[in-house]
Amino acid sequence: MNFMEKEKSIGVFDSGIGGLTVVKRIASALPNESIIYFGDTARVPYGSKSNETVIEYALEDASFLIHKNVKAIVVACNTVSSVAIPELRKRFNVPVIGMIEPGAAYTAKMTTSKRIGVIGTRATVNNKAYSKNLRKYIEDVFVIEKACPLFVPLVEEGWINKEVTRQVAREYLRELVEQKIDTLILGCTHYPVLYDVIQEIVGKETVLVDSGIAAAEAVRADLSRLGMETNSRARGRIEYFVTDIPATFKEAAQIFLGKTIGEVVRIDLEFLKELKLRIIETNNTK
Ligand code: DGL
Repeated sequence: MNFMEKEKSIGVFDSGIGGLTVVKRIASALPNESIIYFGDTARVPYGSKSNETVIEYALEDASFLIHKNVKAIVVACNTVSSVAIPELRKRFNVPVIGMIEPGAAYTAKMTTSKRIGVIGTRATVNNKAYSKNLRKYIEDVFVIEKACPLFVPLVEEGWINKEVTRQVAREYLRELVEQKIDTLILGCTHYPVLYDVIQEIVGKETVLVDSGIAAAEAVRADLSRLGMETNSRARGRIEYFVTDIPATFKEAAQIFLGKTIGEVVRIDLEFLKELKLRIIETNNTK
């Protein structure tokens, strides 16, 4: 691997802002790596859209990161990870790391009773991506999946420690608690923000899995296996790009990262579509 390749940034994309919980994990696991974050804030949420639409958007989002010359792509969105990983790996020549495979592998190590809960968007739950992946590790696993769509707006509103959020969580999680799960996968990148509320409701003996931690470890393992880790000793830079108003993203970013962020650049959706056509065509004619 030549020097220039190693010093490229890691690309991270999400349907909007939730992927910042993954950025936080990557930045803490790999502090010297630079990151380019892309959030499709104009078209969020993806969790209620069809698989075809999600794949189409994912190819456009990833094309932007390829245009920015990244060395790897992290799909920091469970919804996209549950449907678009094979297509992304087919179209792009860089490592593509999703949330589901590392999250399931990590969970398989954590469970003792083999009774696992998964919460996520409707799309993630309907695709049963976590169940399928968990079965690769534990044949006789019991998995209960539950869509919790109201969590996303509650988090984006910053309603973390409110009674209404606890009520919603109690309602969503009742069934899972009744099923005596010992491990619960937070299968949406927004949910780690609600970690404490969820833990309070499911009880402290239930292990909560933040797939972002597992994904950050998978990024580290892939970069190391391919000899692509940066040589830099300085703290990596993080650049932010979104498809809607940067000011709104900046404000909400505080909820996810616990700190303010610098410049956020807006990218036009038409430009994104053009990029996808150009990059995917070039890759296909190689
Ligand atoms: N970030 C998405 C996920 O992890 C949730 C938001 C959406 O529906 O787009 O599934």
